[in-house]
Amino acid sequence: MCGIVGYIGDEQAAPILLNGLTKLEYRGYDSAGVAVYDGAEIRMEKVSGRLARLKELTDGGLTLPGTIGIGHTRWATHGSPSDTNAHPHFNSDRSIIVVHNGIIENYSALKQDLIRRGYEFVSETDTEVLAHLLDRYYRKYKSPLEALTRVMQKVEGSYALGILFKDFPGQIFSARKDSPLIVGQSPEGNFIASDVPAILQYTRDVFYMNNEEIAVLSRNEIKFYNVDEELLEKTAVRIDWDINAAEKGGYEHFFLKEVYEQPKAIRDTISPRIHENEIVIEELGMTDEEICRVGKIMIVACGSAYHTGVMAKYIFEGLARVPVEVDLASEYRYRDPIFDRNTLVIIVSQSGETADSLAALRESGANGQKVLGIVNVVGSSIAREADNVMYTWAGPEISVATTKAYSAQLAAFYLLALKFGLARGAMSRDSYQALLDDLKRLPEQMEAILKDRQQIQRFANRYLAADHIFFIGRGIDYAISLEGSLKLKEISYIHSEAYAAGELKHGTISLIEEGTLVVAISTQESLYPKTVSNIEEVKTRGAFVMALTSEDNRDIEKVSDFTVYIPKTNRYFAGSLAILPLQLFAYYVSLGRGLDVDKPRNLAKSVTVE
Ligand code: AGP
Repeated sequence: MCGIVGYIGDEQAAPILLNGLTKLEYRGYDSAGVAVYDGAEIRMEKVSGRLARLKELTDGGLTLPGTIGIGHTRWATHGSPSDTNAHPHFNSDRSIIVVHNGIIENYSALKQDLIRRGYEFVSETDTEVLAHLLDRYYRKYKSPLEALTRVMQKVEGSYALGILFKDFPGQIFSARKDSPLIVGQSPEGNFIASDVPAILQYTRDVFYMNNEEIAVLSRNEIKFYNVDEELLEKTAVRIDWDINAAEKGGYEHFFLKEVYEQPKAIRDTISPRIHENEIVIEELGMTDEEICRVGKIMIVACGSAYHTGVMAKYIFEGLARVPVEVDLASEYRYRDPIFDRNTLVIIVSQSGETADSLAALRESGANGQKVLGIVNVVGSSIAREADNVMYTWAGPEISVATTKAYSAQLAAFYLLALKFGLARGAMSRDSYQALLDDLKRLPEQMEAILKDRQQIQRFANRYLAADHIFFIGRGIDYAISLEGSLKLKEISYIHSEAYAAGELKHGTISLIEEGTLVVAISTQESLYPKTVSNIEEVKTRGAFVMALTSEDNRDIEKVSDFTVYIPKTNRYFAGSLAILPLQLFAYYVSLGRGLDVDKPRNLAKSVTVE
């Protein structure tokens, strides 16, 4: 995700744009740029790297005089973070300038068509397609509004746009679909922004743009249109947030904000890779024949990324009948692993900079292995050094403890396992279709769970003083228990262990005593009775059991002390739903203990040391 801003008014635009971008850096910080109309020309400065470089280059905006402009801070999705790929983007004579937050899913086809029509591209981005497409339709219709509506009808994907037309210097054009966009109004001028923080110090009167709405801002008026160019009446909303809360979208912590961004992270990760009910993963770089030749998958990662690998083992082996090995990167690189040329190595990493995972990648590469990266940060070291990279489009994850990137990694694995399963004949086309339908339903099921966090909050407040909390589960539920336990440990500092439910009785059960909290995860229907037995084992030793189970499993209430239900989904995807209450549990325990949820002690967002 990226951040866009725009201003038209009496003040110098560049300083206002830079200040707004500062408040949006949490949305992306790979590169930044601004464009300002100085009365004769539209002048532009854009650089890779942090916003501070742009501020230095423009002397805080003083080198770009003018009272109308747009700006952008980038979270790269298409094209590495570079000066050329930085926004704004423009048409060939720089008469149309665009900043964009979102993903144009059909940009490749549109780009080929524009190239055939003689357009020349300078960047690797999807956004540049918009600049040339606007040029094409503006030349044809001589109307910026008509050009914009034509583009909106042509593109697929998500966008929040800020556009300057040199022929219309007194206006800013903007539109949105699926990416957030607000319009701000004040006596000193009018604004567009991706989010409230960018303009809160200038105005608290904002209009929230709906999908496929257009705003045309002039100095003294703002007009709204629909995609049919019909005028719309919109009512401004008075923002009463304080500035600090605003950067977190009104949430108290980035952690909670990112928990709630998980449905969108999954949609953004899977939607661009599902075309007419077919999974298309171009970046995998493998034909179906090559997929069939894979003899083993080796998944290597650290921390939560490793936990997605543990989950992926159950999913790949279940859906695609591919043998999977999972290893901690810090172990893998020193154990002289055994693999052959038909082993696919997958390195999973949110940051793409984790030293152990990067070293494991280099070790695999040195052995001539084909390496696929599943990475969230575009252009990161692991993304650049892997043979192929499948990005998770979760957007920047600020909280040290991962949530939305973890969920997006699971979603990437679901896509891969379905694609492998169908290609290798391990599943029928009907099963594939049914699973794909279940996968597409996940985000809305996640939203349903997240609607009611009070139940978990009340329960969490009973365990603020706990010394030990155990998480148990079988199969996929065990994989989830690993992540649930780590979330609790890293943000609440309470000791916790995740255990295969069937293994507890082989020793560790000696630690269970009166009042010990055991979180039993039970989403795998075939294993319901087994997990009930495990619950009874710990109950007889005094444990207090919180059961986390699918809504059809009512028997478990007879043995658990507190039961949290999640919607029913395909067993292979249940982990994506079960993790949500566990993230919220960890959050409220940490909050109740008065800890720094977003920056826990001893931790870093990216562990770039060994
Ligand atoms: C997860 O909440 C932790 N912050 C940590 O375990 C993290 O998953 C691990 O360090 C791997 O980081 P990466 O995904 O950026 O490689």
